[in-house]
Amino acid sequence: MYVCKMFFVLACTCLTFVFMLQVPVFAEGNLAEGKKVFGIVCSSCHGDSGMPDLPGIPVFAEGERMEKTDDVLKKSIRNGVENPNNPAGQVMPPFGGGDPLTDKQVEDVLSYIRTLKK
Ligand code: HEC
Repeated sequence: MYVCKMFFVLACTCLTFVFMLQVPVFAEGNLAEGKKVFGIVCSSCHGDSGMPDLPGIPVFAEGERMEKTDDVLKKSIRNGVENPNNPAGQVMPPFGGGDPLTDKQVEDVLSYIRTLKK
């Protein structure tokens, strides 16, 4: 019986670690700086509060795309996204079409858009 209990505890501990590994570690950028960048470069397409006016733009206010990892989203921000299946034929230019952002600014703006989900 005792061995059985030990095994149960061990199995739970292992499972906890597996779940912890799957939780994405979110960017920890400066939100005020991220908001500034977003307002200057990104909001023209993505909308002031993550609610875009145009079709074919992910709605950050509804958490769209936010299930992706930081690494994937940072790459999209740096390189832009040309998705042949975009429902409105929309393309996201590298850095949203603005001046290249520093790594810190990419981190900041990503942290900010992760807060837009209502
Ligand atoms: C010219 C319009 C436009 C601007 C400006 C723009 N985006 Fe986008 N963005 C898009 C479109 C369109 C998509 C969706 C592309 C697709 O179909 O996957 C997108 C997708 C994204 C995604 C999701 C990428 C993925 O991997 O799914 C992120 C994150 C993002 N944009 C962040 C930003 C940030 C941050 C800025 C400002 C630096 C910005 N965007 C500026 C049009 C724009």
